[in-house]
Amino acid sequence: MNRPVPITDAQARAALDKAVEQVRLNLPGYTNKCQDHSSVNGIYSACENEEWTCGFWPGEIWLAYERTHDEAFRRAGLALVDSFDRRIRRRVKVAHHDMGFLYTPSCVAAYKLTGDEKARQAAILAAGQLVSRYQPKGEFIQAWGRMGAPENYRFIIDCLLNLPLLYWASRETGEEKYADIARKHTATCMANSFRPDGSTFHTFYMHKDGSPSHGRTCQGYRDDSFWARGQAWGVYGSILSYRYTGDPKALDTFKRALEFYLTRLPEDLVPCWDMLFQPDSGEPRDSSSAAIVACGLLEAARILPQGEGGQYERLAREMAGSLAANYAVPVPVEGTGLILHGTYSKKSPYNTCVPEGVDECTSWGDFYYMEALTRLCADWDPYW
Ligand code: GLY
Repeated sequence: MNRPVPITDAQARAALDKAVEQVRLNLPGYTNKCQDHSSVNGIYSACENEEWTCGFWPGEIWLAYERTHDEAFRRAGLALVDSFDRRIRRRVKVAHHDMGFLYTPSCVAAYKLTGDEKARQAAILAAGQLVSRYQPKGEFIQAWGRMGAPENYRFIIDCLLNLPLLYWASRETGEEKYADIARKHTATCMANSFRPDGSTFHTFYMHKDGSPSHGRTCQGYRDDSFWARGQAWGVYGSILSYRYTGDPKALDTFKRALEFYLTRLPEDLVPCWDMLFQPDSGEPRDSSSAAIVACGLLEAARILPQGEGGQYERLAREMAGSLAANYAVPVPVEGTGLILHGTYSKKSPYNTCVPEGVDECTSWGDFYYMEALTRLCADWDPYW
């Protein structure tokens, strides 16, 4: 296979319109319930609003609304705001750090697009929950588990995408504490999660005295390998951190993480689930990583001077072109997603994950694919 052809504006518009129609087809099934994290045989089951992934589906609805201004999407997005408001007020499965993944594409997006006050309040409560996970000793947001529990005294690379919720909350409330914690967590993450070669640890443990301990994987193949989605969170998360902080270290981190990611990509620019593997290994791909990185590249193209940003846009167009041509769901069927061949968690002899969603659609893969297409089709004001 040759290097993918960059997607053109017309192709991006067609791919986005096709995605919007799939979202429309799925509305009846997932307005009063949420969409599960990953499909089974290509179909998502409906679930309660209890997973860390439930924000991505409403995010797709808001992107569809932005594309069409169709009231049906607005109504569905606002119905889901009610669900997210109940979730944070009743504290349903919120004892973890994924408040940004949950509340940015659902409630921050709703507030930005409609001014809905319930969405704003729910997102501020979620930001409050996120800062309650902060560990001053070590200056990090604890990802999972009981606060301070030795087996969970760690942060994870994914958290970089939770931080925009905190910067947003600081702007909305005028309270510096949210942004201050986001900046501190970012500094700790950049110092420890990124290895000298630009690759990343999925999770990183701290000692109780706040000094760095060691990296460990949960969803990658093994501790010293290169979990593709962790690398993708690192790429997109570091350029977002640069936008919010202006810290040159964040820009440098973005470049190093991207450089590493690019050296391990197969020809079609969609990695295997762990970048230790190439496609001839027979290991499944993770298309969601390609979608996330494309968004990071387009963010870089948006905020960096044009001379520098142009190369990132070209790369993003190649990645989106590959996804649209070879990974997009070919035939619309109720309940399916937007891109195939994502991998949520694949068990290996060395990792600690629960196996789920291997070679399936993933809710975030669909969302970031749509986000990348939206960025290509419009001058988009990011939810993140
Ligand atoms: N944030 C968990 C994952 O990317 O699977």
